[in-house]
Amino acid sequence: MGNKQETPTDRLKNMRAEALLGGGEKRIEAQHAKGKLTARERISLLVDPGTFEELGMLVTHRSTNFGLDKQKFLGDGVVTGYGKVNGRLIYVFSQDFTVLGGSLAEAHAEKICKIMDLALENGAPVVGLNDSGGARIQEGVVSLGGYADIFHRNVQASGVVPQLSLILGPCAGGAVYSPALTDFTFMVEGSSYMFVTGPNVVKTVTHEEVTSEELGGAKAHATKSGVTHFTAPHEAAAIDQAKKILSFLPQNCEENAMLLPYVSTSEKREKLDSIIPENAQQPYDVREVISELADEHTFLEVQKDYAENIVVGFARLGGRSIGIVANQPAFLAGVLDIHASRKAARFVRTCDAFNVPLLVLEDVPGFLPGTDQEWNGIITNGAKLLYAFSEATVPRITVITRKAYGGAYDVMNSRNIGADMVYSWPTAEIAVMGAKGAAEIIFRKEISGSADPAAKLVEKEAEYAELFANPYNAAGRGYVDEVITPSDTRDKLIRAYEMLKNKVKNTPRKKHSNIPL
Ligand code: HXC
Repeated sequence: MGNKQETPTDRLKNMRAEALLGGGEKRIEAQHAKGKLTARERISLLVDPGTFEELGMLVTHRSTNFGLDKQKFLGDGVVTGYGKVNGRLIYVFSQDFTVLGGSLAEAHAEKICKIMDLALENGAPVVGLNDSGGARIQEGVVSLGGYADIFHRNVQASGVVPQLSLILGPCAGGAVYSPALTDFTFMVEGSSYMFVTGPNVVKTVTHEEVTSEELGGAKAHATKSGVTHFTAPHEAAAIDQAKKILSFLPQNCEENAMLLPYVSTSEKREKLDSIIPENAQQPYDVREVISELADEHTFLEVQKDYAENIVVGFARLGGRSIGIVANQPAFLAGVLDIHASRKAARFVRTCDAFNVPLLVLEDVPGFLPGTDQEWNGIITNGAKLLYAFSEATVPRITVITRKAYGGAYDVMNSRNIGADMVYSWPTAEIAVMGAKGAAEIIFRKEISGSADPAAKLVEKEAEYAELFANPYNAAGRGYVDEVITPSDTRDKLIRAYEMLKNKVKNTPRKKHSNIPL
């Protein structure tokens, strides 16, 4: 008898085994040696055990350029499919760096597009596990077209289903633009990079010498560019962060986020009554206010190392998912500048797109003055935040804890731009500007004509503060619904969000709005 013929079932088994091996054992070892997991290991960390269904495992590239005809990899360098995260459907693609550097070409792109189409049609999130050298050089324009197909779908799906991008290796060229079009980006310290052009091209063009880490590492994008929303010390932690974000979001824009069971005990938070320092110039950490207001240990800060003068993130309040935007008096006195405005505007729009109610904690001395800010467009960028709040139709509540001055008062979800409820603590100061600046302007003649101008200024400052450095003028006008004791805030908020849970706000018919980009 000769060699036993391969049965159809054996053939399938062998092909599956080949596909599971990606670029081969040696390359998997090399991937592990760099501290990186394989495409499949990443998926198994992401999805609930036994829920992953792979699609397109046997797809291969069609190009024959530059020896590609001699080298075929089942799956073409990307594992795609669907599964569940905490019991909820997600679609996932995971690029395999062991196969041609995870580079993207025609078949690889088609596989990603297929799951993006399914996600859009079935209303569930897409999670991209990116590890790619960008457009596959050997396939030329077909690779570029493949990227464009994905970018187009990213935009179509934007605001319909959540899209998350985990950067788990070098991502160059086109590999960075798809993540940039998605809702949240996660990077791993020391092993992931994002750049449009790498250090070699930078050196050739600009003569700058820079390492990959300096140019596009997790720290650079977390602190300088704001491109990444989260950084993690290792891949498993980044995947955990992504799962946590999904738990705060609905499956699509037609649904609300999950309401977790919550048993009300005492909502009083005495610590809040003494959290604002007696001296109005003294800082305090708004994160302490957030941790008192939110359900215990639920606050997940977004972009925490970027534009630290504003704090944004998700939390739960009485089991409900909410998005928090808070001025941070402990950093640059909580002033609004270009980066803070952009960061908060983006977050507000993300929450609004996915029906996550907003909570604003306001303590803002105004916009940051200066040539740097003006020449770099604080007008347009500050307008982004004003626009984002004004446009948002989710339940919106503001708590003014201390300063609410000038244009920043208007911008930070004021009653007049559509806040549903505005609460104020007794320590609030709501005015066009601070007492000193105001007194110097409106009492200038009186002060300069006085025998003791310094004493006169102090007197006039006090007079102004008496009238405006409190919330009662605003409450008298109805711009503030209620002045509340800080320790009652959590209780008030839980009740108000419950009251607002069926809010419907119709907007004028339009093709789309025109945010000042
Ligand atoms: C084809 C690629 C590739 C690519 C890497 N490889 N990138 N193959 N197309 N774009 C292959 C390598 O030839 C190598 O194959 C294997 O993947 C691993 O790559 P290494 O260089 O050995 O790995 P590493 O040292 O870790 O460096 C990774 C890297 C580097 C930083 C990503 O490979 C790199 O710079 N690649 C090119 C990046 C780039 O310029 N891409 C095109 C961008 S243009 P072998 O067989 O030798 O192991 C673009 C246009 C889209 O994307 C624009 C849309 C807006």
